[in-house]
Amino acid sequence: MTVTVIIGMQWGDEAKGKIVDLLAKDYDYIVRFNGGDNAGHTIKADGKKFGLHLIPSGVFFPEKFKVIGNGVVVNPETLLREIDEVEKAGYSMKNLIISDSAHIILPWHKELDGIEDGKNALGTTKRGIGPVYMDKASRLYAIRIGDLFYEKELKVKLENIAKVKEGMIKLFGKSVQFNTSKILDSLIEFRTKIGSHIKNTALLLSIAAKSKNILLEGAQATFLDVDHGTYPFVTSSNTTVGAACVGSGIPPKKISRVIGIVKAYTTRVGTGPFPTELLDSTGEQLRKAGAEFGTTTGRPRRCGWLDLVMLKTSVAINGTDDIVITKIDVLDGLDEIKVCTSYEIDGKKTEEFPTGSMKLPDVKPVYKTFKCWGKLTETEWANIRKTKKLPSEMKTYLDFISKELGVKISMVSYGPERDQTIFL
Ligand code: GDP
Ligand code: IMO
Ligand code: MG
Repeated sequence: MTVTVIIGMQWGDEAKGKIVDLLAKDYDYIVRFNGGDNAGHTIKADGKKFGLHLIPSGVFFPEKFKVIGNGVVVNPETLLREIDEVEKAGYSMKNLIISDSAHIILPWHKELDGIEDGKNALGTTKRGIGPVYMDKASRLYAIRIGDLFYEKELKVKLENIAKVKEGMIKLFGKSVQFNTSKILDSLIEFRTKIGSHIKNTALLLSIAAKSKNILLEGAQATFLDVDHGTYPFVTSSNTTVGAACVGSGIPPKKISRVIGIVKAYTTRVGTGPFPTELLDSTGEQLRKAGAEFGTTTGRPRRCGWLDLVMLKTSVAINGTDDIVITKIDVLDGLDEIKVCTSYEIDGKKTEEFPTGSMKLPDVKPVYKTFKCWGKLTETEWANIRKTKKLPSEMKTYLDFISKELGVKISMVSYGPERDQTIFL
């Protein structure tokens, strides 16, 4: 029995989805434990491709249980659309289980997201994530999946909340009137469609953890964690390993392995500090070669070099056992590859990622430069996969990362397909 957690080690989009799909065959349960449809996880197999936002990345395995845990916030429209899309592609969703304690994203959450901070200064995905987690913490204005079974109380609650939210929106100079009977109808329709999938997943998973293999799929990433990330330029949930327990109900002692997913360079969507960002033609080249455009919003992702200062913090916070380096193919054919090994802040060298609030200090990254391995053909990559003999320049680059972080690299991904993976 194994409980494995997959965690993004940077600012998201490290290819967590691909790795979850790749490993899913060895697990009985695949579980999302945080975030909502702000996430976008792309998976490719059987000649098909899904960009999943809510359903765990185990959809290619209909027999596996796919659990949306209590820590997730659920947008009903997105969930129904995704179920439909996956079923239409021929994969049964009968083993989808949804926590009765997960919170529901309602129209006012989406309305408020982006206007609350004036000009959407945080660059959110505008999916209502911040506002729904605010309501979860406030307790008074939140609706959970389990509440859908209490129609009379739900109606009253919706009417009361709508008034408060209309008042809040007015404060920002906008006038909106929510049609609560329409919202109620759509929630009841939602319940009719997914009612049989709703369960006490915390109990179910804590029991399953005694005898089954469970794969926990993180959304977002360490530096978007509301406590440990580059606050306030973060998401509104905890994304680090502790959240895997809180957001699923699995006891911490049951976790046997933490896999950190690391993109071979760094990307970030939205605003906020990014010490190794490349605003030049190399950044443009990475964006083009890596097709770095958001799965959820289509926004171009900001690109930069790999940052070991960040990653050391990620390894420390998540207790990462091993890492997977993804998208290494994107570095193919570059003149040189840089890795940030420390920062210079006010003329002083540091290997500690600064925590800040409103403003991080001006950080100058210090780089070590590596030779690239040239441009490899698909046959050459396949040969590397089979023989596990890496080109010497690639081995030097990967060995350096592994040694600096003090963790082994268990896999290297060189393309979106399952078989474009080297198991080390
Ligand atoms: P996630 O949010 O961490 O699951 O990552 P995303 O799915 O948002 O972004 C990763 C993107 O890279 C997806 O479009 C994947 O299909 C693609 N991808 C995954 N692994 C690789 C790889 O090794 N090389 C390349 N070039 N693309 C990859
Ligand atoms: P996956 O799971 C990359 C970013 C947004 C924004 C900030 C806050 O695909 O890696 P939010 O809508 O959550 O309030 O936005 O967080 N963000 C992501 N960036 N990948 C994600 O998910 C993200 N989810 C949120 O761009 O900067
Ligand atoms: Mg993504």
